Amino acid sequence: METVLPFYSPRPERPSFIKSATKESEILGEAGTRETNQPEKMSGAGKTVCVTGASGYIASWLVKLLLAKGYTVKASVRDPNDPKKTEHLLALDGAKERLHLFKANLLEEGSFDFLVDGCEGVFHTASPVSFTAPQAELIDPALKGTLNVLGSCAKAPSVKRVVLTSSVAAVLFNGKPRTPDVVVDETWFSDPEFCKETQNGYIVSKTLAEEAAWKFAKEKGMDMITINPSMVIGPLLQPTLNSSVELILNLVNGAQTFPNYTFGWVDIKAVANAHIQAFEVPSASGRYVLVSSVVHYSQIVKNLRELYPTLNLPEKCADDEPYMPTFQVSQEKAKSLGIDFIPLEVSLKETVENLKEKGFFSF
Ligand SMILES: NC(=O)c1ccc[n+]([C@@H]2O[C@H](COP(=O)([O-])OP(=O)(O)OC[C@H]3O[C@@H](n4cnc5c(N)ncnc54)[C@H](OP(=O)(O)O)[C@@H]3O)[C@@H](O)[C@H]2O)c1
Repeated sequence: METVLPFYSPRPERPSFIKSATKESEILGEAGTRETNQPEKMSGAGKTVCVTGASGYIASWLVKLLLAKGYTVKASVRDPNDPKKTEHLLALDGAKERLHLFKANLLEEGSFDFLVDGCEGVFHTASPVSFTAPQAELIDPALKGTLNVLGSCAKAPSVKRVVLTSSVAAVLFNGKPRTPDVVVDETWFSDPEFCKETQNGYIVSKTLAEEAAWKFAKEKGMDMITINPSMVIGPLLQPTLNSSVELILNLVNGAQTFPNYTFGWVDIKAVANAHIQAFEVPSASGRYVLVSSVVHYSQIVKNLRELYPTLNLPEKCADDEPYMPTFQVSQEKAKSLGIDFIPLEVSLKETVENLKEKGFFSF
């Protein structure tokens, strides 16, 4: 069975959307672009990597930064005929020369063989993100999908390192108390049984997927790294809303109350950059938890009010219970990878401006 349906044949023809080669690219080849004049920035020149779920929020930024570094990127999307999933990718700098789109689905075994073939690095970001969908819809694509992608990697001799987008969902939920004096770090693992009690299918799906991935990587001797971001915010590249940025839109778009919840938050650019650092830094290993600040929703509302005093923001918490406590998350390991965390207020401002620009709300 042909399980891989490439959007186009990657070699030797060019895809239909790539116009005839410019003089420059004819001379310099696929990796040779204007940026080759800036060798210090072009750590990816001549290297091919792949990104799964490229239409998504995090993956779109990852593809953008990879192209900017000179990488050739093979990217999977579920529906290459949907312009909402592809146009923003094809418009990126370097896309014409070095971005190749393929169709692949997490639930089709072998679907990613063709994608990872010839790649040095594999960034597996695709996984359904919904904080409300039933567990059954999330676990199979997350768990079986991850093993499916890793299976393809194990068969591809070109693959040197796999960077898996996990989540703090696979870190925080183990029954240990989280209070202001507690410091969470990479040694924390969510407990699948405890996760099931949270009744949150997304948390279960990410925990089971990371657990299975580590088991697989160990068995196969695969060089794998996980990136475990907290709630990611910052500008969207794609035209559609994703689940984490939607949390901010809900606040600025007329919500009467804010949830009694405390999250870690992190900027999209730091997250995309961490993926690349995890691939590029030879000594990188294990997991990297990414949290810029841990704050209660009331603090997010306060920051938004300071930034936009005329915005109609919720005044009240959704319940009368004490506020969920904050906790600390160590940034030590992430900083050792060269990650600069962007302050929460900057990320919030960029998120709100971007949502306004894209017409998701007006004020
Ligand atoms: N955003 C956050 O706050 C956050 C925090 C921590 C970790 N993460 C992780 O980061 C990754 C990306 O999240 P995101 O926020 O960028 O989400 P997103 O915008 O919803 O992107 C998810 C991607 O997964 C793809 N996908 C879902 N089911 C699929 C399937 N069956 N086959 C192939 N592709 C499938 C989607 O494809 P379509 O475009 O075709 O739907 C989409 O490209 C996920 O692994 C998520 O768990 C996100």
